[in-house]
Amino acid sequence: MKLMLLGPPGAGKGTQAKRLEDAYNIIQLSTGDMLRAEVASGSDLGKEAKEVMESGALVSDELVIGIISSRIDQDDCQKGFILDGFPRTTPQAEALDVMFADKGMTLDSVIEMKVDDDAMVERITGRYTCSECGAGYHDSFQKPKVDGTCDKCGGTEFTRRADDNAETVRSRLEAYHEQTAPIILYYGDKGVLKSIDGMAGIDEVTAQLKEVIG
Ligand code: AP5
Ligand code: MG
Repeated sequence: MKLMLLGPPGAGKGTQAKRLEDAYNIIQLSTGDMLRAEVASGSDLGKEAKEVMESGALVSDELVIGIISSRIDQDDCQKGFILDGFPRTTPQAEALDVMFADKGMTLDSVIEMKVDDDAMVERITGRYTCSECGAGYHDSFQKPKVDGTCDKCGGTEFTRRADDNAETVRSRLEAYHEQTAPIILYYGDKGVLKSIDGMAGIDEVTAQLKEVIG
């Protein structure tokens, strides 16, 4: 099964992709996570992406298309995956079509998570993740059961993203509306687009996703 989650920063793509991984036994492919791993490793690619990401703009199409194309070829992707944060521009969507045609793959569902921009700043500035296992949390909306301890792995170290501040969120939302929102029409025209209400609670959003995925 191959799924794509579309939505602005803070829509809940990462939160839900992790839940869908478990429910459908497929893996999350987040270009944001892949780029952050490159930045953390200090690779040339990471050096190229770091400043752009911290400004809230999009890195070049060429760079992310290259990353995702080689990632999709790996063994663990053959049973299926959830695209989270890719494609993000019309050229990326077109490149994905070519990639899928070349690899003999088809997309099962493209799902738009509809949210209000105004709520995204609070979601993003309150977000943090377990440094050990990457589980996601929120200061108000998704607290660990025991304060300061990860529910999944028991880790006690947490990190916040460098681009998760109110000012950068505004730039990221702008980039989304200018460069990414047009691809919703792209998939709408192909007749594969489904929409859900991303403003509902986290469990309710998961239920809606499972319903549209079928
Ligand atoms: P990326 O990492 O993809 O970030 P993003 O798109 O800005 O999205 P986020 O990860 O911020 O939001 P999310 O939808 O995953 O929300 P989450 O589930 O965490 O990209 C980062 C950067 O990398 C880009 O700015 C760009 O520079 C670069 N990049 C990446 N891909 C690229 C590409 N293809 N092309 C070019 N550049 C690229 O939820 C947020 C918080 O809200 C969490 O704390 C969560 O607990 C909480 N929450 C989630 N759902 C709910 C809910 N229903 N109710 C209440 N709280 C909720
Ligand atoms: Mg994310």
